[in-house]
Amino acid sequence: MSTLGRLVVRGAIRAPGDKSISHRALILAAMCEGETRICGLLPSADVHATAAALRALGVSIPALDADFVVRGRGLAVLHSPESALDCANSGTTTRLLAGLLAGLDGRNARFEGDASLSRRPMRRVAEPLMAMGARIDFEGASGHDGLPMRVHGAALRPIRFVNTHASAQVKGALLLAGLASGVEVVVAEPRRSRDHSERMLMARGVALQCDAQGVTLPAGQRLVAADVTVPSDPSSATFFAALAAMADAGALRLEQVCLNPTRTGAFDVFRRMGVRIEVEDAREVGGEPIGTLIVSPAALQGTHIGGVEIPRCIDELPMIACVAARAAGETVITGAQELRVKESDRIRAVVENLRGLGVAVEELPDGMRIQGGTGPMVGHVATQGDHRLAMAFGILGALPGNTITIDDPGCVAVSYPGFWRDLANAVGPSSHAARAPSPPAPPPSAPPPSARAPLVISIDGPAASGKSSTAQWVADELDVRHVDSGAFYRALTFVALESGMAPDAWTPERVLTSAHRIGWRLTARSVLPMVDGLPQDEALRGSAVTRHVSRVAAMGPVRAWVNGQVRAAGAAVDVVVDGRDIGTAVFPNAQLKIFLIADTWERARRRLVQRLGRRPTDVEIAEEAEALVARDAQDATQSAPARDAITIDTTTVTQAEQVERIVALARATRERLRAT
Ligand code: S3P
Repeated sequence: MSTLGRLVVRGAIRAPGDKSISHRALILAAMCEGETRICGLLPSADVHATAAALRALGVSIPALDADFVVRGRGLAVLHSPESALDCANSGTTTRLLAGLLAGLDGRNARFEGDASLSRRPMRRVAEPLMAMGARIDFEGASGHDGLPMRVHGAALRPIRFVNTHASAQVKGALLLAGLASGVEVVVAEPRRSRDHSERMLMARGVALQCDAQGVTLPAGQRLVAADVTVPSDPSSATFFAALAAMADAGALRLEQVCLNPTRTGAFDVFRRMGVRIEVEDAREVGGEPIGTLIVSPAALQGTHIGGVEIPRCIDELPMIACVAARAAGETVITGAQELRVKESDRIRAVVENLRGLGVAVEELPDGMRIQGGTGPMVGHVATQGDHRLAMAFGILGALPGNTITIDDPGCVAVSYPGFWRDLANAVGPSSHAARAPSPPAPPPSAPPPSARAPLVISIDGPAASGKSSTAQWVADELDVRHVDSGAFYRALTFVALESGMAPDAWTPERVLTSAHRIGWRLTARSVLPMVDGLPQDEALRGSAVTRHVSRVAAMGPVRAWVNGQVRAAGAAVDVVVDGRDIGTAVFPNAQLKIFLIADTWERARRRLVQRLGRRPTDVEIAEEAEALVARDAQDATQSAPARDAITIDTTTVTQAEQVERIVALARATRERLRAT
């Protein structure tokens, strides 16, 4: 247990929809003829890649909302895409869609991905598909058996495939190829991989036979459309089960988690390590067992993980390894060589990062050996863009006494766009919060800084007082992040426009129905919104959004929602935030509050310079000043400074001078906080 502060966890977390089921829900909906209603789909970057690829193949997939309908028109309408399918970071998108494409006679597609995906082995799926009669060309450097790769569909032959390792992606790909071509497929595996494909196919009328040896798809099967409710992803829930396990007190409720036994290995491992996990409200939804887990802290013991258990916890092993670093004694993981070909070489990456935090850990060819301890962990984590590493070490970083910086916190969007927000909520704004900033970590020999709440600097002021550009400048000078709350209003406007609802019919409630599609991400300089796990920066600045955003921003419940996002960001990392009510309603406890004022003429002049890009005439300034007076009257109730705010009159100072003053005040505040 930590010597610096206590972490008390509380509350409930509903991890987002299961990634494996989400990919399959979209693909199967696209293959059927008829309507599929999908509820709770994971709107993350990986799933987005599957949706975009299916659209490129000719399927009409609407925006990935909380609840939407895909109108499938069967396989006949699928065509070769005009350009390459961008699978981004997603192995599941690539392998499952390679299977589907292989069974579409006469059609072909080139698959591409990011640097991490392009390094991953595709021969494992290409070989059996070629044995069925598909043509697959690796189009990268000679000898490279990864992306880019072109799949040419054909009228396939049946296959009996005995895989040398357990892979749900390969199994799923062969089943989709067999379905598309109407031929028999038998897949045997040395150990059972996750069985979502089987469950979902059977729910759609396919006569699959499953036994301990594997799965048989008879020839000539047809898919019937069936609605899907996607349960919470157990791999995502595992991060919070780990947080609760390592906390000092309290409990976390993890709601509606998929408890499919091929996926729950991590919970079994945690139980073996001493963690208390109770299950409530267990039931079946859409062919998958689900339940709510209540996880409470424990005195953790090391354990051995290997054999048949590995496929049941393969994606959770980075988190398990981090928990093992906090357990008494040794933990040994073996038989997990598959980890070397995931989004990163997760054996090497976990070992090196744990070692960098001062943990005694030994790399094995197929796993690792970890000596648990209680010392503070201090250091910088290199994620290699691997979402599960960012989250596993993010959880360790949320423990009191640990100071861990993460190089690419934004990569969590691959599977869990709202991760940092949920983490901030789970640890509570007043406890020690997860730190995901990018400045270099102190050297491991430095004494651990004491736990503290993140620094919040609020900058308020009337309209056109220059809050936003000053705030970004101050944040840059202090090397902390600026929360761009305006971008969150833009993100809500963007999803409202995308929903197809006529802007005239927008009400706060309607606009907020799509709010779940918006997450936030940390860049080096800012906290910015994401839509469906993607940045969308350009679209958010587009003219359609600009036309409607001020109406959306005027809606009370919308302001409350944006304030919630901003508050969560400020609970997670050091921030400078500007906007109305920031120092009063949103962050009443901000450690430094600035209120900028300037006389009306000067504000009008600045606004026009910005808008017109030239020196305005006196007549133009007078007109603008009149409009500002009216706006000030409208805002009068909102625009009062907080009682503890420092008011700066900027009428006669340059922006550089204002920034200098605020930065000096911020540095003094930091010193004062450090001393207390
Ligand atoms: C997945 C299968 C697993 C898993 C991956 C998702 C799937 O990979 O690690 O994150 O959705 O089918 P393998 O197929 O390599 O086992």
